[in-house]
Amino acid sequence: MTRHFLRDDDLSQAEQSAILDLAEQMKADRWGSKPLAGPQSVAVIFDKSSTRTRVSFHVGISDLGGSPLIISTANSQLGGKETPSDTARVLERMVSAIVWRTYGQAGLEEMAANTSVPVVNALSDDFHPCQLLADLLTIREHRGTLAGQTVAFIGDGASNMAQSYLLAGATAGMHVRVAAPAEFSPAAEVVADGERRAAETGGSVLVVTDPVAAVAGADVVVTDTWVSMGKEDEKQARLDTFNGYRVDDALMAHAADDAVFMHCLPADRGYEVTAEVIDGPRSIIWDEAENRLHAQKALLAWLLAANATTANATTANATTANASTATTATATTATATA
Ligand code: CP
Ligand code: NVA
Repeated sequence: MTRHFLRDDDLSQAEQSAILDLAEQMKADRWGSKPLAGPQSVAVIFDKSSTRTRVSFHVGISDLGGSPLIISTANSQLGGKETPSDTARVLERMVSAIVWRTYGQAGLEEMAANTSVPVVNALSDDFHPCQLLADLLTIREHRGTLAGQTVAFIGDGASNMAQSYLLAGATAGMHVRVAAPAEFSPAAEVVADGERRAAETGGSVLVVTDPVAAVAGADVVVTDTWVSMGKEDEKQARLDTFNGYRVDDALMAHAADDAVFMHCLPADRGYEVTAEVIDGPRSIIWDEAENRLHAQKALLAWLLAANATTANATTANATTANASTATTATATTATATA
């Protein structure tokens, strides 16, 4: 069965940790691993705007020896004339993986159900799991560990970032707190999934409306735009509702003395975060942005290795085309296929 990455809890704690280890290795030796040599192509499709995701996948696929195929939906048949399932069947004949930034999670699931190559969620309305791999890598670099760390997400609790923090943070054994207005709480099913995962890893999840309660003693404080892509027509109502959820120096004063601040970017200074905080000494946003590159390279290498190993297990005369991939990710495949 093909492994995909559509939401953060598609990975177990051990798998997530193995990908972060691989990302650390790839960051230390940026051009040392070529699992996409050939070059193999990877399709990276955008229904929504992007700077970091577009650049980090393009550069990362090139770093891995592959050929990035960046597609804007507006200039393709997907998104109007052709279904995700037909698109998936065509692409699998030509590319080694499909990366897609879109709206609903259902489209990603349809794409994944109809292709033999891995599908990666590059942001949906519900989750932003690639960003979370980068965030976890960054937290690990700055805090030394993930398990036991307390992270407070402040703002739109129903957003892709808040919901991905609940799942990815719980998977990592972190204590995840979300502070959001009641009408912007995370989906109940996502909270339940986070709670289930946290029970396995020793983490916890907590959803509150009071930002001070969420930030109290936290090691990491995170926010994101109050107006996510696709929500522009709600802009004024959102700005009014979220006023009071701004991360400023006064709120940061409730966090641990050595707490760090994170934001996936793009940021609206003066709205969800003040310039003093995002541009101040506790902010680690540039490391966070850079780590998109290393985390996604590791994710792609891991998925290719995991799927090649699965195929090898079921096909006696397995291809050796992915030999370099297998070498790169040998340390990580045992858990992927266990
Ligand atoms: N953080 C993030 O995904 O940025 P882009 O929208 O620029 O890709
Ligand atoms: N929540 C934001 C993230 C942007 C990277 C959005 O969906 O627009």
